[in-house]
Amino acid sequence: MRILGCIFDLDGVIVDTAKYHYLAWKRLADQLGIHFTTEDNERLKGVSRMDSLEIILEIGQLNLSSDQKNEYATLKNEWYVNFISRMTPDEILKGSRELLQELRAAGIRTAIGSASRNTPMILERVGILDLFDAVADGNKVSKAKPDPEVFIKAAELIGIDPVDCIVFEDAIAGIQAALNAGMFCIGVGSANVLAEAHFVVKGLNEVNLEKLRTIEKDFRS
Ligand code: G6P
Ligand code: MG
Repeated sequence: MRILGCIFDLDGVIVDTAKYHYLAWKRLADQLGIHFTTEDNERLKGVSRMDSLEIILEIGQLNLSSDQKNEYATLKNEWYVNFISRMTPDEILKGSRELLQELRAAGIRTAIGSASRNTPMILERVGILDLFDAVADGNKVSKAKPDPEVFIKAAELIGIDPVDCIVFEDAIAGIQAALNAGMFCIGVGSANVLAEAHFVVKGLNEVNLEKLRTIEKDFRS
C-alpha cells in the first residue's frame, strides 16, 4: 500500500466525546431501571444511535414500541447535544491536531468516517473542520459499522483507493468496518479490546507519518 489517505473516526479518536455518549446513555438506562456498566458501553462505541438503544434495551430485557424507542433516542440525543454544544478546542485529544497537520503538509488526504449525526457540530465547536478534506458521517450513510459503507464513502470523497487508506478507530465495530473496507487499521485505545486491528496505539500522540510508514512496512514483512 501507499499511504495516500487517512480516515479518522471522530468520537474517542479525535475528540473525547465517548464520555458524553456514555453519560447520556447511562442517564437513560438509569431512568429505565437498566443496569448499564462501562463494560456494556464498549459495545455501543461506533454503533448508531438507534442500535445503541437496542443494545441497552436488550441488556435490560425491555421491549418498547417504536414510538417509545424514537422518543428515548431523541431524549438521549438532547442530553448529549447539551454536552457537546459546550465543547471547546481543549477537548481535542492529544496529538490529533499535530498528526492531521503533518499528514496534510505531506499531501496525504484526510477524512472523517463517523456514524455520528452530530459530527458537523462537534468539528465546528472544537474548530478543526478545516483539517479534513472530507466528512463522511451518519448524515451521509445508512449502514452502521461494522458495515464498511462509511469508510468506503470517505475514501470516495477524498478520491483515494481503499487499499491506500489507513483508518484510525477506537471501536471494535469500527475496526471490523475498516477491515471489511480492505483498509489498514490502527486501533486507538486498549490493545486487549482492539486486538483485531493491525496495530494499536493508546492515542494519536503516539504516531507521526514516519511511524505510520514503519508500522505498515513491519506488518507487511
Ligand atoms: C459514534 C459513537 C457512537 C454513537 C454514534 C452515533 O459512532 O461512537 O457511540 O452512538 O456515533 O452518534 P450520534 O451523535 O448520531 O447519536
Ligand atoms: Mg469512536
